[in-house]
Amino acid sequence: MSRSIGHAALARQIGADKISAMPQFYDALPADYLAPGESMTVSVDEFPVAIANVNGEFFAFQNMCPHQATSLGGRPVKDCIITCSQHSSQYDVTTGKCVKPAEGDGFNQDLRTFEVEVVDDVIRVKI
Ligand code: FES
Repeated sequence: MSRSIGHAALARQIGADKISAMPQFYDALPADYLAPGESMTVSVDEFPVAIANVNGEFFAFQNMCPHQATSLGGRPVKDCIITCSQHSSQYDVTTGKCVKPAEGDGFNQDLRTFEVEVVDDVIRVKI
C-alpha cells in the first residue's frame, strides 16, 4: 500500500524533533563518495537520509525501513533495488516503491523519497 505523508509525520518517522517548513536543497556529500551500486546514510539538515547511486544517478530516500526502522543506508543496491537486512523487504530506490513485502507479516509500505540535484559534483537533497 502506498501513501504519502506530511513533513510532521516524516519528522516523527525519522526520529527528528524538527523539520523545515519550507523544503530546500542541502549539501549532502561529494558525488565521488558513492560508487554505482552503493548506498550511504548521510545527515541532511540533521535528518538521516539514505542516498543510492544507480548507474551514476543519485536517489535519496528515508533511511529507516518503514517496517521496523532498520537503517537502509550502506546496503548494496542491485538493479535499483535495496534489501532490508532484517526481514528482507525490498524497495526500488528510484521510486520508493516496496517491491517485496517484509518476511513474516507482509508489511509493504513504500519509502519516502526526496528530490536530488548535483551541483559542482556535490549531491544535494531537498528536505
Ligand atoms: S525492518 Fe526492514 S523489513 Fe523489517
